[in-house]
Amino acid sequence: MTDDDEHRLARVTELAKRRGFFFAANEPYGGVAGFWTYGPVGAALKRNVEQRWRERFAHEEGHMEIQSPTIIPEPVFEASGHLDDFTDWVIECPTCETSYRADHLVEGTGEVEDAEGLSASALESLIDELDISCRSCGDSLQGISVGEFNLMFSTAIGPGKGEPGYLRPETAQGTIVDFPRLLEYARGDLPFGAVQIGPAYRNEISPRRAIIRVREMTQAELELFYDPEEDEPPLGAVAAVELELYPVEAQEGDGEHRRLTVAEAVDGGIIDNPWIAYYLGVATTWFHEIGVDPAKLRFRQHLPGERAHYAADCWDAEAYLDDDWIELAGFAYRTNYDLNKHHEYSDGSYTVFKPYDEPVTVERATVDPDMAMLGPEYGAAAADIASALEALVETNPNAFETGDAVTIEAAGETHEIALETTGYTVETVTESGEHIMPHVTEPAFGIDRLVYTLLEHNFHEDVVDGEPRAYLELPPTVSPNVAGVFPLVDADGLPERARALADRLASAGLPITYDERGAIGRRYRRQDEIGTPFCLTVDHRTLEDDTVTLRDRDSTKQIRVEMVEVPEVLRSLRSGEMSFEAVAANTEAVDREGNS
Ligand code: GLY
Repeated sequence: MTDDDEHRLARVTELAKRRGFFFAANEPYGGVAGFWTYGPVGAALKRNVEQRWRERFAHEEGHMEIQSPTIIPEPVFEASGHLDDFTDWVIECPTCETSYRADHLVEGTGEVEDAEGLSASALESLIDELDISCRSCGDSLQGISVGEFNLMFSTAIGPGKGEPGYLRPETAQGTIVDFPRLLEYARGDLPFGAVQIGPAYRNEISPRRAIIRVREMTQAELELFYDPEEDEPPLGAVAAVELELYPVEAQEGDGEHRRLTVAEAVDGGIIDNPWIAYYLGVATTWFHEIGVDPAKLRFRQHLPGERAHYAADCWDAEAYLDDDWIELAGFAYRTNYDLNKHHEYSDGSYTVFKPYDEPVTVERATVDPDMAMLGPEYGAAAADIASALEALVETNPNAFETGDAVTIEAAGETHEIALETTGYTVETVTESGEHIMPHVTEPAFGIDRLVYTLLEHNFHEDVVDGEPRAYLELPPTVSPNVAGVFPLVDADGLPERARALADRLASAGLPITYDERGAIGRRYRRQDEIGTPFCLTVDHRTLEDDTVTLRDRDSTKQIRVEMVEVPEVLRSLRSGEMSFEAVAANTEAVDREGNS
């Protein structure tokens, strides 16, 4: 980290705390790492980011938004694989009992760039080779074994021992498990998408870097269910969007990013899953619009060992922050992994009926096991034998075509079942369609990291009127407030006029803040620091001609606007329909005292 970076990081963190963006939760009780409270302006910024995400990824895409419970019973996570596979590698110092994520310890030496996909034994070897010590007490960690740690918070549902459950580690599973119901709302048609914005929980081994790695976070996730044989994304809409890509071959080769349009990345086979390519295009434009610095954004493909257990491919959106790239969002191709598992483990059906263009006639092999024969001969094993015969005829009907008996494994034994007992027949049937298992591509955003990135990427310092100032260049669409409303002085009826204007703007649904305390320059600085893009000041001229000054945060220029036009001007500035420059082009410019 350079001195500049360090200074900037310290200034942003200090600003976030002082101005009420976020602070450690439960501080009076000492706090627990990984839990943060958003203060008034931080909560507003976060809410605005969520709302912009909802507008782009749910409303504009035509997807449904749902809310599922944050506590989920254990069988769901048994099926999804999270119980076995949602783990990190942990190492505990035997002297002071401090725990570390083993891959982070290794990466922290600067000798290994990416240790996330390494095995326990590879990490143990590196810890030995690099002679890594405990950061807390300094004792050597050589020879200490690396173990698995499941990141899900467990709980008991109901009294007594209760039913085991977990706080969801992703919103996605709640959406996926309810697929059969969602399919009904989609009238049985693919493709369709369902989104959730809400909390998810991960019992991180070592939470760090403020709201970057936390134990309770907010996710915004979209599950797109589609038929991989038929459904294609509207790639034309994003074909020309330029992406900064860091594919596996570059990470393992020259280490250089590839700057390609979405169309080039798809045509060149760099991005395999077209839905991922589509969402990278949509996300790039959206990230830029909400204030992520385009020069500090890239998409990095997961290395094979790094992918989650459910993903066949995954690209992370990463932002350059402080001195490092951090993940803002993951774009995973989950295939039909999750739906298949829930189909197998639950009573639900996770398939979709896909009609053929024309009905087709097919030969279908079936069995109808004769239980009157199987029961007396096999007793308790008879039902398992019948199920095994039904499974076999679906996967290998030829087994019934050779000889007088069929060999099956059931109830832990091998059985020879006479063909006539199986009730095997081949029928000619007309089928109007087939049941298919949809695939899922998932854009998953971490809202807290995005909020932090917006603060960091938009923090600036300059000098105005000979005085240094700090300001956040947040776009008006996400800034906590759109305007500060002030009387120039606390006298001559100006506060009453300013208060009336503030009330009118608030009633029009515009997020504003009113301030009449202290020098006007200090009031501007306070708003600059929390990223308020505009300030409206009622001054003595207002009493004469019913105009107010409108000040632009970034340029600090001021113009005069008719009081009656203020709500509409602010609304169009907030939505991005108009820029300050466009408004100023038709309006009287004034000096800092509000005079022409
Ligand atoms: N659903 C993907 C994730 O939580 O990372």
